[in-house]
Amino acid sequence: MTTAPAKIRKAVFPVAGLGTRFLPATKACPKEMLTVVDRPVIQHVVDEAKAAGIEHFVFVTGRNKGVIEDHFDSQFELERTLEDRGKTAELTVLREELPAAGQTSFTRQQAALGLGHAVWCARDIVGSEPFALLLPDMLHYSSRPCLASMMEAYGEVGGNLVAVSPVPEDQTQNYGIVDVEDAKAGVSEIKTMVEKPKPGTAPSNLHITGRYILQPEIFDILETQGPGAGNEIQLTDAMLRLLGRADQPFHSVRFDGELYDCGSKIGFLMANVAYGLAREGLGDELREEITKHLDKKSG
Ligand code: UTP
Repeated sequence: MTTAPAKIRKAVFPVAGLGTRFLPATKACPKEMLTVVDRPVIQHVVDEAKAAGIEHFVFVTGRNKGVIEDHFDSQFELERTLEDRGKTAELTVLREELPAAGQTSFTRQQAALGLGHAVWCARDIVGSEPFALLLPDMLHYSSRPCLASMMEAYGEVGGNLVAVSPVPEDQTQNYGIVDVEDAKAGVSEIKTMVEKPKPGTAPSNLHITGRYILQPEIFDILETQGPGAGNEIQLTDAMLRLLGRADQPFHSVRFDGELYDCGSKIGFLMANVAYGLAREGLGDELREEITKHLDKKSG
């Protein structure tokens, strides 16, 4: 009889990066707090984790990121003012989004040494259980939340999983790339992976989209992981070592929705357009305004 894989209760959100592509906006404001429509990017990603059944939210923060902690805390004065003014709808939104007491943890990555190092900083909080990892600047737009689909696959195959999606061949050098047994399958065994391969050397065009389910053994590997591409401690390098172990199944889960890289200006702007168009009570007006604007420009 096979036993079900251990439940994924915790999710890690690395938010300690410098956000240099968004300067000067990110000089004092974390890029994770930039808004897509009316919610900070990090809130969209926490919502995705909640929808997948995550119970504990672990944030790896850094300098100038204190406002992220404030965002997930209650604001007594604000709530009182909304109450006094009868702004019930706004109050409900604030209260519904607040994680329950004790459901969040915050730790610091004192120096931005790379994603792998940021994940390693969460080791004591995560402990010896498998966990989800979500990169907060990657928005996954889909009718079925990406992490929920991964959880389903995890129930079947267990072990480690990464969400993947194809990129144009001339962009593979910007991403973590995986080679899989069956590129067309929804869930497939991973053969190998590489972070930011040199142009023309990528083993496939499937890139890791920023959603992971990982076994806790990754922390021991990260402990001894040296710098890789860009002189940063890369998670992909550590995952490759994990993949080499006989006791660690590693699968890809194909993500077929829309991806928005909110760490880049174009991705962030397009996320605002897409999420705005999809928002009830806003989409129609936005569509009209965009059409008017484009007509004016081309007329
Ligand atoms: P990025 O490389 O996209 O983020 O890392 P960045 O370094 O903030 O952005 P740029 O390139 O300077 O504009 C992906 C995710 O990993 C986190 C980032 O916060 C982001 O969510 N990260 C990266 C860390 O937490 N620590 C690091 O040392 C590096």
